[in-house]
Amino acid sequence: MIEIVTNSPAQTELYGEKLGASLKGGEIIAYFGGLGMGKTRFTSGLARGMGLNADVSSPTFSLVNEYCGDITLCHFDMYRISSFEDLCTTGFFDYIDNGCVLAIEWSENIENVLPEEKLIRIDFQRGEDDNSRIIRMSGESEYEASWG
Ligand SMILES: Nc1ncnc2c1ncn2[C@@H]1O[C@H](COP(=O)(O)OP(=O)(O)OP(=O)(O)O)[C@@H](O)[C@H]1O
Ligand SMILES: [Mg+2]
Repeated sequence: MIEIVTNSPAQTELYGEKLGASLKGGEIIAYFGGLGMGKTRFTSGLARGMGLNADVSSPTFSLVNEYCGDITLCHFDMYRISSFEDLCTTGFFDYIDNGCVLAIEWSENIENVLPEEKLIRIDFQRGEDDNSRIIRMSGESEYEASWG
């Protein structure tokens, strides 16, 4: 586990960018942490680090946004998913093992079906003031090293 503290949205994006540059395809990035903690900002940086020219916005209504590139990023928002049936109807399982990077907001709601392989877990928490965030990553050392 590696923990960092950011003090601005730009800094959160930068850590997303560092991780994005270390990805090879097929990783599942599971975000945990409440409303407005910076998951979408982090994903914006992640896309940049993956070399994608993407205008990342919250996929709340579309459930998933896809940004195509050498490695494609599929950005999910599971906020409204509350049952296994819900998840099946979204087609989520078709995205696993297809070589894309999956970045999943509100992973709390699908925690029991997250694959263990190639999983990178990222927890967001508010820090000491409104603009600070404590962000923790757990994953293979090669990914954690991207923040070192
Ligand atoms: N250190 C920080 N890192 C990231 N965002 C920050 C930080 N400080 C303040 N913010 C603000 O917090 C908000 C984060 O919004 P963002 O959409 O990324 O959150 P989210 O976790 O995706 O929320 P939701 O669960 O609603 O989708 C933005 O308004 C941003 O300006
Ligand atoms: Mg969001």
